[in-house]
Amino acid sequence: MKKGLLITIDGPAGSGKSTVSRLLAKKLSYLYLDTGALYRAVACQAIRNGVSATDEEGVAELCRRTEIRLRRVDDVLKVFVDAQDVTEKIRTEPVGLLASTLSAMPVVRSSLLTIQRESGKNGGIIAEGRDMGTVVFPDADLKFFLDADIEERARRRYMELVVRGEEMDYQSLKKDLLYRDRQDRERAVAPLRVPEGAVMVDSTQLSIDAVVKAMLAAIPEQR
Ligand code: DC
Repeated sequence: MKKGLLITIDGPAGSGKSTVSRLLAKKLSYLYLDTGALYRAVACQAIRNGVSATDEEGVAELCRRTEIRLRRVDDVLKVFVDAQDVTEKIRTEPVGLLASTLSAMPVVRSSLLTIQRESGKNGGIIAEGRDMGTVVFPDADLKFFLDADIEERARRRYMELVVRGEEMDYQSLKKDLLYRDRQDRERAVAPLRVPEGAVMVDSTQLSIDAVVKAMLAAIPEQR
C-alpha cells in the first residue's frame, strides 16, 4: 500500500537539493532518498580499488561485484558498500567529481536503477538527484526542478566545505562545479534535464525556509 506521495527533486550540484529534500521529508514524515550518494558510493569504491574512470571494463566489473545497500536508520537512508557504512566518507569534492564522471556510464546507471526504484515503490518519499523525474520515476506524483545561479551555488558549496573543515579555493570549486554541470547535462544517458510538468524553483534569492515553503505550497495535501 502507498504510504504517501512519490515526490522527485532534480537539479544541478549546489542548488540546495539535499538540504531542502531533507527538510521536506522531515516535515512530511517521508523518507529522503539521496541518489547522488549511490553514485558517490561507486566512485568511492573505484578509488579504493584503484579503478580508473577510463577503464570501462574495470568499472563494469566493480559494479558487478560491489554490493551497495541503503539501510534506514531513524528517518535517514544510510549507504553501505559491502556492509561498510560510507555515508559520511563519500561527501568530499573529489568523490563528487568522480561520481559525475562515472555516472555517465550506462553500466553504472543501470546497476543502480533497481535499488532506487525499490526505495520509491511504496511512496512516502522525496527522491533527489539528476534523473528522478525523467528516468527513474517518470510517473512520480509531483516533480520539482531546483536551480540557482552558478555564483550562488559555488558560494553555498564553499560554505559547506568550510563548515566541514575541508580546504578548497573558491575559484577552483566554481570551476569544478561548472565542469560537473556540463558533464551531468551533456551526457548521452539520463542527462540532467527539467522533467516534463516539473514545478520550477529558483533558489538564488531565496532562503532555505522560503524554498521549503514554496515547495510545500505546491504539494496538494499541504495546501
Ligand atoms: O548530488 P550529488 O552531488 O551527490 O551527485 C554526485 C554525482 O552523481 C552528480 O554530479 C551526478 C551523479 N548523479 C546522477 O548522475 N544521477 C543522480 N540521480 C544523482 C547523481
